[in-house]
Amino acid sequence: MTTPQVRVLFDEAVIAQRNEELAREIAASDPKDLLVVAVLKGSFMFAADLIRALHRAGLKPQVEFIHLSSYRAGTVSTGQVAILRDVESAIEGRDVLLIDDILESGRTIVFAKDLLMARGARRVMTAVMLEKPGKRAVHIDAEFVGFTCPDLFVVGYGMDIAHSFRQLPFIGVIHQGDGAPDLFDKG
Ligand code: IMP
Ligand code: MG
Repeated sequence: MTTPQVRVLFDEAVIAQRNEELAREIAASDPKDLLVVAVLKGSFMFAADLIRALHRAGLKPQVEFIHLSSYRAGTVSTGQVAILRDVESAIEGRDVLLIDDILESGRTIVFAKDLLMARGARRVMTAVMLEKPGKRAVHIDAEFVGFTCPDLFVVGYGMDIAHSFRQLPFIGVIHQGDGAPDLFDKG
């Protein structure tokens, strides 16, 4: 087997430009008493960039984290979500922006949104770097979407396979490099 290589889908410059656009869209939604909640672990890099872009767009959010685990068998979601670490802030009456890496089945975001609404949030909006269309198991749309993603298992920019590839500054797909199909290619 050849060493896996990563085929770039969205490079650093494209991601950086999109983050500035997303931040301006978020600022235009006129959030009040904004609390940003980054969903760990996969969103950490996107969140770090988007939050700084929000600052440049003139917002002064508070920033929090929630660590959720959506159990997966290999690369396929099983549908169960657990809280591994909760937010500490009071949510009551606030506008919340959830930040996650990928919207796929939608179960992770629905779980987080329901949780924060049940705690009295005024409004919960969602920003995801990637959206995989046609994969939704529950009804949810993110208000802010970086890019539409092909139906491939992607890595980089915080996203992993067993904790590898998170460090990549771009988003890509594992590629065997020998003419064989991309790993996890479902198409
Ligand atoms: P959902 O609950 O099915 O929407 O799953 C979303 C979560 O699954 C994301 O936050 C990711 O952590 C993970 N995920 C889904 N697709 C991918 C992928 O292609 N690469 C890496 N992680 C993924
Ligand atoms: Mg995740």
